[in-house]
Amino acid sequence: KKPKITVLGSFVVDLMSRTPHLPARGETVFGGPFKLGPGGKGSNQGVAAHKAGADVTMVTKLGRDDFAQIALNSFKSVGMRTDYIFFDNEHETGAALIMVENGTGENEIVVSIGACNYITDDEVESVREEIRNSKLLLTQLETNLSAVYKAIDIANEYGVMVVLNTAPVQPVPEQIYKKVDVLTPNETEASILSGIEIKDIEGAKKAAEYFVEKGVKSVVITLGSNGVYVKSPEFEGHVPAFALDNVIDTTGAGDAFNGGFATALAEGKSIKEAAIFGNAVAGISVTRIGTAPAMPWREEVEEFLKKHFYEGDK
Ligand code: RIB
Ligand code: NA
Repeated sequence: KKPKITVLGSFVVDLMSRTPHLPARGETVFGGPFKLGPGGKGSNQGVAAHKAGADVTMVTKLGRDDFAQIALNSFKSVGMRTDYIFFDNEHETGAALIMVENGTGENEIVVSIGACNYITDDEVESVREEIRNSKLLLTQLETNLSAVYKAIDIANEYGVMVVLNTAPVQPVPEQIYKKVDVLTPNETEASILSGIEIKDIEGAKKAAEYFVEKGVKSVVITLGSNGVYVKSPEFEGHVPAFALDNVIDTTGAGDAFNGGFATALAEGKSIKEAAIFGNAVAGISVTRIGTAPAMPWREEVEEFLKKHFYEGDK
């Protein structure tokens, strides 16, 4: 049976251009073919979790405009429910301007979250039963924080596991850390939030200790192509990424990891196994263009894991 996960987070439309190099300040560069598609960290993570095998209740907010249709079509096309998607009469659906560098696949993003900034307390309250019946709540910092914190409080009331991905980074109030089961910052976010420089595994270990002292139960710091660093009561250590030679677009890789990781955790896998599973989901996603559409289905993840462990054994 599929584990139930509630994902509260952003949906925005991604407007993507690839360029030979990212523009410097004041520079205009030619882009390759333009792409428009579903994005937003919340939605990307929700789609990743759904495709990876979770029963996802997606909570987000859209405007009443054409971009909202892109969201609905995207969720429907993969078979996700849309009954907890809210609409705002005043604010437009968000958008992200994304530039991806050819060759490295590195990106720069400006996100305007639009309607996602206006999820009301009442709307979050209306999701109470969904959260209560979930194994896990997965949320980020890309919507209004009042909604994020309210959802976390509801999850805490019922002892539902909370995974907080600290993206995009914003100051996190001290009392929030105590309410989080697994914090999943990337290395930049972890550095900013902890004030500890992360240049290597040793740095990641120190930053992870900082968050545990603050009160989170477990920390998973994502380190890009270096994989992740995990600190939890059951396991501590570096879980390397899968070696890939066909990386074309790393946009949304963190989202892929979070969606996959949360799914595996909700299935009852150990945190280390969940990190490996998350790394596999992320590993596949970076070999495909785009964000939500790049998320792999469960069978693809299983195949990938088989193949890569097999190669690892040789
Ligand atoms: O994490 C990647 C996402 O961040 C993109 O889809 C873009 O929408 C931005 O919010
Ligand atoms: Na991608």
